[in-house]
Amino acid sequence: MFLKMRRIRRCQCVQLMTTCLVLSVVMVCWEQLDNNVVSHVKSYSYRYLVNHFININKSFTIPREQARRFSNFRYLLDHPDKCIEKDVLLLLFVKTSPENIGRRNAIRSTWGNETYIRNRLGVTVKVVFALGVARTTRDEPSWSKRNGVGFQEQLIREDRRHGDLVQQDFLDSFHNLTLKLILQFHWMHSRCAHARFFMTADDDIFVHMPNLVSYLQDMSSRGVTQFWIGRVHRGAPPIRSKDSKYYVPFEMYQWVSYPDYTAGAGYVVSRDVADKIYQATLTLNASIYIDDVFMGICANAVGVTPQDHVFFSGEGKTPYHQCIYDQMLTSHGHVEDIYDLWRAATHPQVKWWTSGLVGRLYCTAVKMALLCRPYYLNTYHCKAAFL
Ligand SMILES: *[C@@H]1O[C@H](CO)[C@@H](O)[C@H](O)[C@H]1NC(C)=O
Ligand SMILES: *[C@@H]1O[C@H](CO)[C@@H](O)[C@H](O)[C@H]1NC(C)=O
Ligand SMILES: *[C@@H]1O[C@H](CO)[C@@H](O)[C@H](O)[C@H]1NC(C)=O
Ligand SMILES: *[C@@H]1O[C@H](CO)[C@@H](O)[C@H](O)[C@H]1NC(C)=O
Repeated sequence: MFLKMRRIRRCQCVQLMTTCLVLSVVMVCWEQLDNNVVSHVKSYSYRYLVNHFININKSFTIPREQARRFSNFRYLLDHPDKCIEKDVLLLLFVKTSPENIGRRNAIRSTWGNETYIRNRLGVTVKVVFALGVARTTRDEPSWSKRNGVGFQEQLIREDRRHGDLVQQDFLDSFHNLTLKLILQFHWMHSRCAHARFFMTADDDIFVHMPNLVSYLQDMSSRGVTQFWIGRVHRGAPPIRSKDSKYYVPFEMYQWVSYPDYTAGAGYVVSRDVADKIYQATLTLNASIYIDDVFMGICANAVGVTPQDHVFFSGEGKTPYHQCIYDQMLTSHGHVEDIYDLWRAATHPQVKWWTSGLVGRLYCTAVKMALLCRPYYLNTYHCKAAFL
C-alpha cells in the first residue's frame, strides 16, 4: 500500500515537471507563433472579407518614363528569330543563373528537348533560358575561370551551341528576379507574341512535357482566355521578419495581404493574359523584388485571377510512382535525378499500368496512400488522388 502511494506520487511529480517544461517552451515560442497566427488571420480576413485591392493598383502606378527603367536593359544575348514558326503552342521560359550550366544541359536533354517534343508530341514548344549577368570576374569562384575563361565567354560559347539563351544587362541576383520576369513578358511581346501559351519555370523543376502538352492542347481547343494556372497562394501575408529571404519592408508593400498569385516555380498563362501583363509592366512600380508577388500585382491591375491545378506542385516534390507520373505536370527540386525521373515518367509502361478499370482503382488506392497522409504537405494535394 505504502509502496503504491509512493509510485503514484513519483508519477505525478514527473507529470508535473513535464507539464512545466512544455509550458515554458510554449511561452518562449509563443511570441513567434503568435505573430504568425495573427498575420495569417489578418491577411485572410483582408483577402476574404474586405478584398479591396483597388488602392494597390493606384499606389503602384507610376509614369511610363519611370517604369521604363525596369525594362530598358540592353540584350547581351538574344534570338529574335527563335519563334518564327507560325504555330507555337508554348513559349517556355526557364529562369536560370549564369553558373547553372549543368541544370540547363539536363533540361535540354530531358523535358526541354525541342526536337523530342516536335518529333514525339507533334507540336512546337520553344524553350528559352532567361538570365542576367554574373557578378564581376573578381567575385567569381575559381572553378568558373577554368582555362582562363570567364562566365560571359562560357555563356557565349554555350549559346553558340544551343541558341537558347536570352540575357539582359542586369545583375543576376535574387533581388533582381522581378527584372527577369519583366524581361520574359517583354521578350514574348516583341519576339513571340503569337505563341498560344506562356510558361515560366525555375531551373530546378521537372515538367512532365507530354502531360503538359496534351493538357494545353485541350485548353487551346476549347479556346480558353483569361487563363492563368499553377499552385495558387491565396491571401498570403507579406513577411515582415528581417531574417527571411522573402522579407518585404512596409514601405515597399503596405497591405496585410498579397493579391492571389501562383508559386513562381512554374505557372502557365494564355496569350491574352501575357499581353495584359506586358501592358501592366509598362505602368507599374516593379521595385518589389519577389517576382511571383509582382506577377500577382500586375494581374490584379488588369483583372486576371489565378486558378489552382492540383498537379502543379508549387514548392513541393512529386512522389516517385507510376500512378503519379500518369497525370503530374510539374515537380520542384530536381537537379541530380532529372534524367532518371524523365526516363521513368515518360516510359510507355506507365500508361499500360494505369489504364483500365483495375489500373485506375489500383492507382486511386496508391495515390490516396501517397498524398492523403496528415502533415504530409510538400507535394500534390490529397484531392489529386481522386482525379
Ligand atoms: C533531343 O532529342 C533528340 C531526338 O529525340 C535527340 O536526338 C537529341 O540528342 C536530344 N538532344 C539532347 C541535347 O539530348
Ligand atoms: C539589379 O541589377 C542592377 C543592374 O545591373 C544593379 O545595379 C542592382 O544592384 C541589382 N540589384 C540587386 C538587388 O542585385
Ligand atoms: C517604387 O517603390 C519604391 C518602394 O518599393 C519606392 O521607394 C519608390 O519611390 C517607388 N517609385 C516611384 C516612382 O514611385
Ligand atoms: C489599374 O490602374 C490603371 C491605371 O491607373 C487603370 O487603367 C486600370 O483600369 C486599373 N485596374 C483596375 C482593376 O482597377
